[in-house]
Amino acid sequence: MGVQISPSILSADFSRLAEECARVAGAADWLHVDVMDNHFVPNLTLGLPVVESLLAAVTTPVDCHLMIEDPDRWAPAYAEAGAASVTFHVEAAAAPVRLARSIRSAGARAGMGLRPATSVDAYADLLPEIDMLLVMTVEPGFGGQSFMTDVADAKLLAARAWLAADGANEVQVDGGGRSATAEVIGRGGTDVIVAGSALYRADDMAAEVERIRAVASAARAATLG
Ligand code: DX5
Ligand code: ZN
Repeated sequence: MGVQISPSILSADFSRLAEECARVAGAADWLHVDVMDNHFVPNLTLGLPVVESLLAAVTTPVDCHLMIEDPDRWAPAYAEAGAASVTFHVEAAAAPVRLARSIRSAGARAGMGLRPATSVDAYADLLPEIDMLLVMTVEPGFGGQSFMTDVADAKLLAARAWLAADGANEVQVDGGGRSATAEVIGRGGTDVIVAGSALYRADDMAAEVERIRAVASAARAATLG
């Protein structure tokens, strides 16, 4: 399988959310839902009640990215509600191992997110506890920002190497994902690419998904073999 694509609804028209989420069905692998609490990041989006409604309305597996304080308290509920993947930020978690275990025991994949300035190496011991490492290539909070190439080059292959030592978990890249950055993302060995503005502003979302997937998959194969 090629690189997976997770369209972020942050750039969707929130007045027509169910319709906007349905555009992803059959086109992409995941639906990326950015939960922001106006504390961990300077922006506010949506929370558990809206995610519960979306879970009932969509068929694509939901990938929740929680940019919130105190994920220890709030994240397990997203897994219990039926999100297929729940990512918390390690910078905000008090007990990341316990949190990852409670997300997994509620039936979801556990993801751990890193801001651009957070080093992977410091968290190597935690990697067996998670299913996915989310590497941010913009400062979290807003869609449509410029991709940080130096963060990708410095961090992705290192992340891949830590994970590969340990088995079947994945690296997700979030922030500035588009066809023009897919080569850099792919050559870092990335498994899942989040793309918000590039996909929600495309005339043909499915075609743009395939364009990003093709470029990233070729670059990934050239690096990893
Ligand atoms: C940013 C969010 C991203 C965002 C990506 O904090 O976590 O998921 O929607 O948007 P683009 O792809 O436009 O950078
Ligand atoms: Zn996100």
